[in-house]
Amino acid sequence: MTENLVDDITQSASLTLPDGQRADLPIVVGTEGERAIDISKLRAQTGYITLDDGYTNTGSCQSAITYIDGEAGILRYRGYPIEDIAKHCSFIEAAQLVIWGELPSPDQRSHFSDILTENSALPEDFRRHFAAFPPHAHPMSIMSALINALQSYDLPGLTIDSDEEFERVSATLMSKVRTIAAASYKSSIGEPIIYPRYDLRYVENFLHMMFSRPYRNFVPTAEATRALNLFLILHADHEQNCSTSTVRMVASGQANLYASVAAGVCALWGSLHGGANQAVIEMLDLILESGMSTKEYIAKVKDRSSGIKLMGFGHRVYRNFDPRSRILKDACDDLLNALNIDDPRLNIARELEEVALADDYFVSRRLYPNVDFYSGTILTALGIPPEMFTVIFAIGRTAGWIANWKEIHDNPASRIYRPRQIYVGPPQREWMNRFQREKATSQEFRVPDELRSDGGVVA
Ligand code: SDX
Repeated sequence: MTENLVDDITQSASLTLPDGQRADLPIVVGTEGERAIDISKLRAQTGYITLDDGYTNTGSCQSAITYIDGEAGILRYRGYPIEDIAKHCSFIEAAQLVIWGELPSPDQRSHFSDILTENSALPEDFRRHFAAFPPHAHPMSIMSALINALQSYDLPGLTIDSDEEFERVSATLMSKVRTIAAASYKSSIGEPIIYPRYDLRYVENFLHMMFSRPYRNFVPTAEATRALNLFLILHADHEQNCSTSTVRMVASGQANLYASVAAGVCALWGSLHGGANQAVIEMLDLILESGMSTKEYIAKVKDRSSGIKLMGFGHRVYRNFDPRSRILKDACDDLLNALNIDDPRLNIARELEEVALADDYFVSRRLYPNVDFYSGTILTALGIPPEMFTVIFAIGRTAGWIANWKEIHDNPASRIYRPRQIYVGPPQREWMNRFQREKATSQEFRVPDELRSDGGVVA
């Protein structure tokens, strides 16, 4: 039985089944009053399981990391509203809050910063991996492959048995994920991979590795650094989303931190999840290049036969607005004004939002801009190409994946995730050889010539 983080079970739900069985199921109440029916003993008591395609109504765990109220558009990391964290923290401070549960003291902040710096470079022979990928390799495929490859360079990190070791491996992952991302970009454009610098902080170092050249250092503007810090903060964690649930699934089998995070990268890549930010900018480019009006595009989205979605819109949890989208929309304006960029795609995005939010198709389905709707415009303004967008998302979300891995790893009552299913395949069948099967499924059956002479039966 998973150790209940919430242990004052005082209420229960009564279930009466068609065959007359009854079950009393405990009600679990979360910090903010969310209620759940604990069905962990349902099958043992009744033989029944529950079924919930897509887990829309199913809690997979109890977690103390992030709280979302989808109706009210609330997002908090360890109790702090995302708006406050966005305003007062650097990404690394937010990451330390998400992973360890408290905002870091100045000493904790500088210590973690030191081990991030110490672990920012890639092993020299590790760099040859990049040359093994073809130039068009998607950076997400490189990222997941090379996070797994990192395990071979940090064998002690595969068995984390102390807080110090966990901190070292976490810093190694967070730091190297950023270096791998920049290196995969450099490889894809045929430029030399740039070493990290010891005098730069996390985000500046990333932009340096992305845009410096051996003969010319790139110095990011304060606005660009601030915008990317904000982007990473807003992507740091988001409770049991698809990729974080994947990390927990893999972690529940006691896979190591590298393997669990690598699995999270693969799950994030999907266009319905972290891949949406790239899909949004491709959608805006399509509208821009086609000369289509936003109203025409929205009409295509509403025509279900088109199969077209308004990328960056909708969310399984947020049903009124995604607070991150609001923060990013304002950051977009600030950044583009500061960099004096007039990106026509931002105007298209604003128009799409305006048209959609006045259209009952979206309002009735409670579809609003999500975190991905404006994020691509910010990353484009920073000079980051669309195929790198989801990689940047992964850099931010590595903090949340590490925190969720830790929550499982630290809980002695954690059990392997092994969902049940309802089987809908064929009932038991008698074994037949190929010819008997063909005979059973076709009217005219003729024993093949090659068999007539020997009369043998082919098994
Ligand atoms: C992220 O879970 C997280 O927290 C994820 C994330 C995180 O931080 O980890 O927030 C990051 O993944 C954000 C979402 C990015 N994805 C996109 O922007 C892709 C476009 N959005 C959709 O594909 C969709 O809205 C999802 C995947 C986000 C949510 O899917 P659901 O909850 O399964 O909703 P659904 O597909 O059942 O849609 C309900 C209705 C359907 O219409 P009906 O069948 O009821 O007529 O809304 C329609 C859908 O067709 N709909 C859309 C739409 N999203 C849903 N119609 C047009 N455009 C859309 N974007």
